[in-house]
Formats: sequence, structure tokens, C-alpha cells
Amino acid sequence: MSILVTGGAGYIGIHTVAELIAHQEEVVVVDNLGLGHREAVQALNVPLYEVDIRDRDKMISIMKNHQVDTVVHFAAFSQVGESVRLPLKYYQNNVAGTTELLAAMVEAGVLRIVFSSTAATYGEPEATPIVESHPKHPTNPYGETKLAIERMLHWSAEAHGMQSVSLRYFNAAGAHPDLPIGEHHANESHLIPIVLQTALGLRQKVTVFGTDYPTQDGSCIRDYIHVMDLASAHRLAVQKLRSEHAGAVAYNLGIGKGYSVIEVIDTSRAVTKREIPVEWGTRREGDPAVLIASPDLAKQALHWSPTYLELSSIIASAWAWHLNHPNGYKS
Ligand code: UFG
Repeated sequence: MSILVTGGAGYIGIHTVAELIAHQEEVVVVDNLGLGHREAVQALNVPLYEVDIRDRDKMISIMKNHQVDTVVHFAAFSQVGESVRLPLKYYQNNVAGTTELLAAMVEAGVLRIVFSSTAATYGEPEATPIVESHPKHPTNPYGETKLAIERMLHWSAEAHGMQSVSLRYFNAAGAHPDLPIGEHHANESHLIPIVLQTALGLRQKVTVFGTDYPTQDGSCIRDYIHVMDLASAHRLAVQKLRSEHAGAVAYNLGIGKGYSVIEVIDTSRAVTKREIPVEWGTRREGDPAVLIASPDLAKQALHWSPTYLELSSIIASAWAWHLNHPNGYKS
């Protein structure tokens, strides 16, 4: 019995692979390496198939050869800004890709899936903290594609008995405490890596996108969750799928506490003891002012509890990776 991880060479994927093998699971990674890092999978010594999830025949044979009983599905494009410019690229990869994956799973008789979803399925929040039943009106194609897949999982449960847990992440950050894996994106757009690259002198400054939001210091507030806490939630979701038939369910993953962009920068200055020059910029289109999860349902249903509850510990974890791998997997 093994777990197939699609997109397992990506940031959250590889940390989940590390968590699964640390708990004696057999894992096989499928990644087309369009954005993933071969070096990350090699560091964990796990079988890697350089295959696109849209290749149905290959996916079926991998599932059969490895006696896969559960899929953990990360493979997707995830840049919000790019999705607004190139929506069809997102529908093609995320929605069409997952359609093929689910068809392969049904054909191979693999009926359990943990799906990497997002807070972007909610859109502009009407109430905070956000609970799972909150209305879903995505404000960008990225969130739309993830919501479409959640709906596809619902109907696949009805028709095919597909059991799924969708995990809606808030803002992932940090790195593995012991292994040489961490966050490395081509064309980085996320706040914490940008701030830490500035502390390293790899960038001249951080631009704060908006200082006129209705928050205590005018900058946006986000719920930052450590990547190993995301990883443990995936492992527990696999356990839940193996032990009960729940249909299609979805849980938020966050710590339930928000920090502003300015707090992230100030905390990073304290953690790194380096200078981090800042420029005050205008709002980035599509950014909600405040995104904070209610993680209560995930805690209750998965018996999960996040362990990194302070922003400083999340940033310290990310900093250790950046300091040792200033060029990511290329160093
Ligand atoms: N920000 C800056 N300067 C930067 C980069 C970001 O001020 O150079 C701000 C953003 O405006 C935002 C906050 O920092 O207010 C966090 O931005 P990120 O880009 O790090 O993360 P997002 O909140 O935009 O996106 C995250 C995930 C997405 C997911 C989204 C859900 O990365 O995949 O949450 O809303 F879709």
C-alpha cells in the first residue's frame, strides 16, 4: 500500500512527502518538473516519476505498480496574479489536469484523495475568522479552479464513491527543521521569502503593497501557517480517509491568528538581525485586507493542532533555510 503524491517536488508537496516517510509510509512522487525541483525529491530518496498528471495511461500504471491506495494531489499552478493574466492556462492545468487524474484513479480503483485547496476559494471575506461554510466567491481564476475541483470531488463522491479531503490553506511559510528542503519558487512573489531575500542582500528592498487598508497599521493581514503543520494535516487526512467514509469534506488550515505585512517585516528584522529596507507601495489588485482562518473544524475532524503558533518561530524556520540555501535548490 503506498501514497502517490502529485506535485511532490514542489514546496508543500515535498514537505508532505518528508512527513509521510517519517511516519513509515511508502511514497511515490509524480511531478512533471515544470515548477518542481528534482533535487528536493533526491534529498529524500523517494521514487520520482517525471510524468504529467494528464497522461492517464502512465498514471494508471504507476498506481497499479505501486499498489497506491491514496493520492495526495498538489500538482497545480498557484500564482494568483498570473492566473488573472492567463486564466486558460490555469483551467487547462488545474481543472483539466485534475479531471484526468480523477478519471485515472476511478479506472485504477483508487478512491481516496487529499486535495490541495486554498483560502482563495472564499474571495473577499464577509466575516472573520473564515469558517468552511463561508460563501465562496473567488476573485481570481486560481481560486475559481480550486473551487471547481472541490465541486468535481463532491460529484465524484456521489457517482464513483471517491472519498476526499480538501485542505484550504491560508499562507504557507517556513521550512523543514532538519532536512535540506524549503521554499524556492522561480519568480518569487510571496512576502516572507521576499523579505528574507532582502535581509540576505539579494534584493534591495521590500515593497509593501498598500498602507491604507482598514487594519491597525494600514497593511494587509494574513494567517501564516508553517509548512510542517500543513504536512501533518495531510498525513492525518490520509489516515481519516483510510479509516472512514466521509464523502467529500473540506477544512481550513491556518493558525487562526493574523499578522500584518509590517509585522512580518518587523519580526523578520528581529529574527535576522539584518536591515530590511522598505518602500511603501500601492495596493496589489485583488488582495483582501484581512484573511484569517477558523481552523476549529480541522482540529476537531483530523485531531490536528498546529505547532508553530508564533510568527517569529515561522520566520526563524524560513530564515534557517534561506541562510543555508540563498539560491534555493541551486546552491
Ligand atoms: N505583499 C507585499 N509585498 C510583496 C509581496 C506580498 O506587501 O512583495 C503582501 C501582499 O499584498 C499580501 C501579503 O503580503 O497582503 C501576503 O502576500 P503573499 O503573496 O505572500 O500571499 P497571498 O496572501 O497573496 O497568497 C496566498 C497564497 C495563495 C493563495 C492566497 C489565498 O500564496 O496561493 O494566499 O488568498 F491563493
